[in-house]
Amino acid sequence: MTTGIPGVSAPEGLLRAYGDLLPLTGRTPLLSLGEGHTPLIRGHAIEQRTGLRRVFLKLEGCNPTGSFKDRGMVLAVAKAVEEGARAVICASTGNTSASAAAYAARAGLRALVVVPDGYVAAGKLAQALAYGARVAAIRGNFDQALAVVRELAATGAATLVNHINPYRIDGQQTGAWEICDALGGAPAYVCLPMGNAGNITAYWKGFRRYRDLGRITVLPRMMGFQAEGAAAVVLDRMIEQPTTAATAIRIGNPASRAAAIAARAESGGQFAMVSEEEIRAAYQFLAAQEGVFVEPASAASVAGLFKLAAAEGLKRDGAVVCILTGNGLKDPEYALSLMNELPAIPATVGAVAAAAGLDVPT
Ligand code: F0G
Repeated sequence: MTTGIPGVSAPEGLLRAYGDLLPLTGRTPLLSLGEGHTPLIRGHAIEQRTGLRRVFLKLEGCNPTGSFKDRGMVLAVAKAVEEGARAVICASTGNTSASAAAYAARAGLRALVVVPDGYVAAGKLAQALAYGARVAAIRGNFDQALAVVRELAATGAATLVNHINPYRIDGQQTGAWEICDALGGAPAYVCLPMGNAGNITAYWKGFRRYRDLGRITVLPRMMGFQAEGAAAVVLDRMIEQPTTAATAIRIGNPASRAAAIAARAESGGQFAMVSEEEIRAAYQFLAAQEGVFVEPASAASVAGLFKLAAAEGLKRDGAVVCILTGNGLKDPEYALSLMNELPAIPATVGAVAAAAGLDVPT
């Protein structure tokens, strides 16, 4: 595809690439940080381990702020500009705030983000601050943060850019469209981590839209996974005190719980809980066996796939796509917490060879 812009080979950003399917008007600014068009790569090691024939990994950590949130945020912020907003506001476990802050900076809007104190990964907080957002860390969890920003937004002081803003869901459909465009049809299964359950809702909407347009004929099964300590969608009930080291999905009262449950029913999909240990094992497998570094929440999709594949609950021939929602660099503390202390050693060949476990001929 060419754009006519020297040096730019594909339409820049999602509003240009999929504008005909998004609710743009002549007055919507074509905001872009080059989001979308993320790699869809084969997961060969996962195929070997599970016996599934075709597994693909959608690397959403390659988006400009390192997570899938950029897909919906670019549209939500562009529409906020179109509607004359001066500021945007959101609650976040980290990635939404990083994305909102970046797009607000790009568009010349102020951003206010409300996060649970002590439960946002370092990389995400660093991003929000660097992009110039006002950050409020509350003594409370994500659910309480969301309740506060909903009330604040209702006063008209700022435009809400959590995914209850419908433009967020509209923009996030592009993930589903890219997958269908790349594979020439829908996969049999799509595996996602669920937190607030916006992404699974958006993917399901996107697949149905493509079906209605005749671009695909068969719909995928939606497979959603949550951490055991924060499994409000899987258990279909509110969790007062959600717990998980995958802080991105540490949510007890997901805004789109009902929509996610409907997506499972309509698609013939499945949900499951995964333990902290299963998340950790999938996280390490992805990095060490596939070379793909994701944040812990993203590893929940692969942990879930391992679980269902082991239970022989999947058709081997159907293509599987795991949505790897966020970059591993977002949460360096999690990675470092899994390794032993790294002692400093002498700067000698002998000491380094011994530390590296290399047999050096003498
Ligand atoms: N993976 C990552 C890396 C996330 O940041 C999130 C959500 C999810 C998965 C779950 O997606 O909420 O649409 O079901 N993060 C939100 C945030 C809540 O504030 O950044 P979901």
